Amino acid sequence: MKIASRLVTWQRLHGRHGLPWQGTRDPYRVWLSEIMLQQTQVAAVLDYYQRFLSKFPTVKALAQAPASEVMVQWAGLGYYARARNLHACAKQVMDKWNGKFPPDAASLATLPGIGPSTAAAIAAFCYGERAAILDGNVKRVLARLFAIEGDPTTRAIELQLWERTREQVPTARACAQDPALMSAYTQGLMDLGATLCTRSRPKCEACPLKKDCLAKQQNRSDELPWPRARKALPERNTMMLIVHQPGYILLDQRPTTGIWGGLWSLPEYEVTIEPTLIYQNLGLPIDKTAVLASFLHVFTHFRLTIEPHLVSVARARTPKINSALKSLPSAQWVALAQLQQRALPAPVHKLLTGLITAGLIH
Ligand code: ADE
Repeated sequence: MKIASRLVTWQRLHGRHGLPWQGTRDPYRVWLSEIMLQQTQVAAVLDYYQRFLSKFPTVKALAQAPASEVMVQWAGLGYYARARNLHACAKQVMDKWNGKFPPDAASLATLPGIGPSTAAAIAAFCYGERAAILDGNVKRVLARLFAIEGDPTTRAIELQLWERTREQVPTARACAQDPALMSAYTQGLMDLGATLCTRSRPKCEACPLKKDCLAKQQNRSDELPWPRARKALPERNTMMLIVHQPGYILLDQRPTTGIWGGLWSLPEYEVTIEPTLIYQNLGLPIDKTAVLASFLHVFTHFRLTIEPHLVSVARARTPKINSALKSLPSAQWVALAQLQQRALPAPVHKLLTGLITAGLIH
C-alpha cells in the first residue's frame, strides 16, 4: 500500500495553504519555521515568526546578533534550548557552510537543534529531497494506519515507525514528474496529523486514507497509538521502628513540610545504618527485637520500600506517657487505645493494625 498519491491530492485540495513559511524555498525561513513549530502550535508561532524575521532577516543577521537579543525575540515561545540551538546553528551555517544552509537532509542533521525529522522536512520543502519525516503527529498517523501497538516514544517502536515512513515516500519517478510532490506530500502528512488524524475524535470520515487505515478498519482509532508509558518511579528504602511496650507505642511526628507532613508516623532511619546501633541509641531497656517482612508503598513520585523492625521494650523504668526521648525529640508514647485519635499515614496505620490483630503488639 502506498498512500502518497491520495495524500497529495487531499493536501492540494484540503490541506493548509498560505502559512507564512509556505511558498518559499529559502532554507533560512523554512528552518526557522520548523524549529518554532517543534512542540508548538501554528497559531502560537505566527506572530513570533514574522517578528523574528523582521528582526533577523537573514541567517547572517541572526548569527551576528547577541544571544540576549535572540532570547528576547524568543521569550514566551518556551523550550528555550531551541533558541540557544537556533543561534548556534546560525553561527555554524556562517562559519562551516559559508553562510549557506547545507544542501541535503544528512548534512542538515549535523547542525545544532536539527534532528532527523526536521532535517528531512527542510530538505523536502526546499530541495524536493525524498527524505522521510517522523514528528509526533506523523507517528500518530502511521501508528493508526498500520495498527502499530506499543509506545511510539520508545526506541523499538520509533524504529518501526521510521521504517514505515521511509516506505511511504513517493517514488523517484513520481518526484521527477512533479517537482512540487515532496513538498505537498510532506505538508500533507503534517496537515493530516494536525487537522484530521487528531489524538482525540479523529475525523476519519473525511480522511483520504480511511480505506487504507488498519485502526479505522479494526475500529481502534481511539486506542492507537498507545499512550506514553509511565516512567519507572525512583525506588527509595526506609527502616521504620515499631517501638512498643505493653499498651503503648512510640510515634514520631513528621515535619510539617514534605511527605506525610505533620502526620504521626513511626521513627524512620536510613537502611544503611546498623540496626543494633539504632536500637541502643534509643536508650531504652530492650527486651527483644525482630525484623519484619518489608513491604512497598507507592507514592505518585517514588516507590518506598518499608522495612519494619519490631522493638519490644520492658515496661520497667520506661517513662510512660508523653515524655520525649533524647534521640527522638518529636516522638511520644501513645496508648494503643488512643491510636485512633492520631492522624497516621495509611501504610503505617495498616501495619500497626495488622500487628495488633496478630497480637505482636498489645
Ligand atoms: N508543524 C511542523 N512543520 C509544519 C509546517 N511546515 N506547517 C504546519 N505545521 C507544521
